[in-house]
Amino acid sequence: MTSQSAPNIELSLIAPTYNEIENIVPLVERVHKALSQYSYELVIVDDNSPDGTSELAKSLSAEYPLKVIVRTSERGLASAVVAGFREAKGQVLGVIDADLQHPPEVIPALLEAIRAGADVAIGSRYISGGGIEGWSTKRRVISGGAKAFTHILLPSARKIQDPLSGLFLFKREVVDGVVLAPTGYKILLEVLVKGNASHISEVPYTFKERERGKSNLTIREELNFLKHLGRLGWIEGDIKRFIKFCTVGASGAGVNLGLLAFFVEVVGLYETLAVVISYEISILNNFIWNELWTFRDKRASAGGSVLSRAIKFNLVSLGGFSINLAVFALLFNLFGVFYIISEAVAILSAMLWNFFANLKWTWRARHEEALANQSLQEK
Ligand code: GDD
Ligand code: MN
Repeated sequence: MTSQSAPNIELSLIAPTYNEIENIVPLVERVHKALSQYSYELVIVDDNSPDGTSELAKSLSAEYPLKVIVRTSERGLASAVVAGFREAKGQVLGVIDADLQHPPEVIPALLEAIRAGADVAIGSRYISGGGIEGWSTKRRVISGGAKAFTHILLPSARKIQDPLSGLFLFKREVVDGVVLAPTGYKILLEVLVKGNASHISEVPYTFKERERGKSNLTIREELNFLKHLGRLGWIEGDIKRFIKFCTVGASGAGVNLGLLAFFVEVVGLYETLAVVISYEISILNNFIWNELWTFRDKRASAGGSVLSRAIKFNLVSLGGFSINLAVFALLFNLFGVFYIISEAVAILSAMLWNFFANLKWTWRARHEEALANQSLQEK
């Protein structure tokens, strides 16, 4: 981010618009009324809406602390918001939908949360006091699924009840020197994953039904969201780690087969004995590579000795082996699934088990353990 802040503006509120002519006047008026006690600017970023949104907005800018940006070469909610950030002068930056589905009256509570020390204040539909008006069950299920998916992929979103909110404020410093990618329309995720926020607070609000105009977001945006999530998960989360883990697993399979051939053909051991020995050595091979590579960053905080981790890793692998057998038996013997497919699913299940069990147990950070014990005691 490049713009400079102006000391006399506390909040810059960005409202992206596309064909919102019917909402502009009530938006500007309600924001102004809600923020009468604060120094703020409203930044409307319009993508040259054919309905004349920007002309109407500009006509209001003499009367209100309002800046209107019109983009003609680009279209899209996310990039509009990022363009707004670039022009914003406030010490606190915020985003609000222009269609009044985000009631402007909640902004003071968000700003007070920032004043009280939060780095990011999120308008939340999913904490007590918050809600959603008039959504179908289907839309609720999709939204819940998207939230669950976000929690799985993004560790930094896990403690947040509404990580997909489009209504939020944050201190300018949070994104100092950070490049926010203008893709995917969930800018909050960009801020949470790439920014430096340690204290996040959620403020309840009710997502209203749209009274005027119509929604612009399409199924394409939803797919884009998945792509965005994948990319952010790659940057911060455990996707990269999982791929390393699978690579190590594949190297282990190679070691296992190579040694088996060596012990049988060259040393002349019995096949069954050779299977057991080469299997155990391949487990050790995997352990060493995971220790030095996959979980390298976790070693220092994991505590305990290398030996204790090696033993845990062996136990986890044993669990994985049992899962492999059980899943195969279930699919092949019980459901009659083709044996290759049954074993492929079995291998994947065992891999996932191995990965998460090692992440959450073998290389688990000590302070996570302390936190978990604490929350158990609180219950
Ligand atoms: N500049 C610009 N360019 N603005 C846009 C564009 C665009 O291409 N597309 C949409 N907007 C503006 C709309 O004018 C509105 O102010 C805001 O972005 C939200 O767009 P809607 O079309 O009303 O989206 P929605 O109501 O379906 O989605 C909202 O609710 C979701 C919660 O379910 C958004 O706030 C999402 O971010 C939010 O997750
Ligand atoms: Mn809307």
